[in-house]
Amino acid sequence: MNISLSAPDIGEREVEYVNEVMRSNQLSMGPWLEKFEKKFASYIGTEHAIAVNSGTSGLHLCVRALGIGPKDAVITTSFSFVASVSCFLYEGALPILVDIDSTTLNMDPAAVRDYLRNQCTRSADGPLIDSASGRVVKAMMPVHVFGLPCQMDELMEIAREYGLFVIEDACEAIGAEFDGQRTGTFGNAGVFAFYPNKQMTTGEGGMITTNDSRIAELCRSMRNQGRDTDGAWLRHVRMGYNYRLSELHAALGLAQLERIDEILASRENVARRYSELLSGHAKLQSLENDPRMKRSWFVYIIRFRSQSPAFLRERVRTFLRENGVATQIYFTPIHQQPFYQQCQAGNIPSLPRTDQAAEECLAVPFHTRLSEMEIKYVCDAILQATEPQKPESVAAGEPIPLVSTQLART
Ligand SMILES: Cc1ncc(COP(=O)(O)O)c(C=O)c1O
Repeated sequence: MNISLSAPDIGEREVEYVNEVMRSNQLSMGPWLEKFEKKFASYIGTEHAIAVNSGTSGLHLCVRALGIGPKDAVITTSFSFVASVSCFLYEGALPILVDIDSTTLNMDPAAVRDYLRNQCTRSADGPLIDSASGRVVKAMMPVHVFGLPCQMDELMEIAREYGLFVIEDACEAIGAEFDGQRTGTFGNAGVFAFYPNKQMTTGEGGMITTNDSRIAELCRSMRNQGRDTDGAWLRHVRMGYNYRLSELHAALGLAQLERIDEILASRENVARRYSELLSGHAKLQSLENDPRMKRSWFVYIIRFRSQSPAFLRERVRTFLRENGVATQIYFTPIHQQPFYQQCQAGNIPSLPRTDQAAEECLAVPFHTRLSEMEIKYVCDAILQATEPQKPESVAAGEPIPLVSTQLART
């Protein structure tokens, strides 16, 4: 058995569209990019969509477009992929990491309020200042982790009250909704990612969504080496990057987007099967949803609930690995990452709920190609490793060996 963590869902249409590009003369900045962007904007529900070559470059462009720099601080969360923080560090801004809600695993609006009330000051009509660093608190970046939307009503209310920009990191959340509204439409800008483990893929790629024409124009220019809207090739009106998405990637993205409802529905079916097969076990908990939050299934996460969840998780991981099942610890929080500890030494926040979630969560194989037999095989392995039978020869207090590392293949 060899069950991978993720797999792209590539159909005939994807192959056909990419072949069409290959037979054309235009491999970059052509009609496929335009079609992909238009369709994406219409699917998400924003005026503009700007394709880029990764989610990280999309986040970086938004940070630059909003003028966030070395004198600024931004509020975000540590329970995320590293790019949610590095996009600010690129520009010398200070990330303020607030704790997550322990049910949704997303930015906790109460923690944001608590930070703004107790660790910031505002002089009359002056900017909001982070008391510890003296920097201006300029923006917040809610991350819709594991495809679950953040509590956007409260976060947007806080942003309005304190005059903060909002960049939504929706890299894991295409199609997710809060109160019937899609992620990527709430803030000043939203960013999506299309790495092959995502719900839809372009191989590598990302997309910025916004209703702000100025942000759209700046992002279009900066992704293309700072060229102007007139398209003059060797004239650069601002500093830019090569963050362009090629026609091949855009064609693949368009084909995926045309099937997005079908892909999301199949992912939901796989998630439902996992939840059915794993339900009712005290030490295992699947993620929960507030009815106002529509999850777009990115990964399937099991949360281990026991005295020492990390120990139990390691035992399960080892057993799964020995039986050909891939897993991943999602996430090691950013404040625990070696690079972050080095560059922010002395400024590592205390985030107890983030630390707790980091000990409990494990991603198991999750994609649309998983067969019923494979899902059952994975679940059997998880259950067997979580609740091993205690052989008579084991003395009290000793670790319980696993019954067998060979599972039935049926
Ligand atoms: C929450 C989050 N933000 C940002 C990114 C960055 O996207 P990319 O890998 O396309 O640069 C990812 C990708 O895994 C992500 O999960």
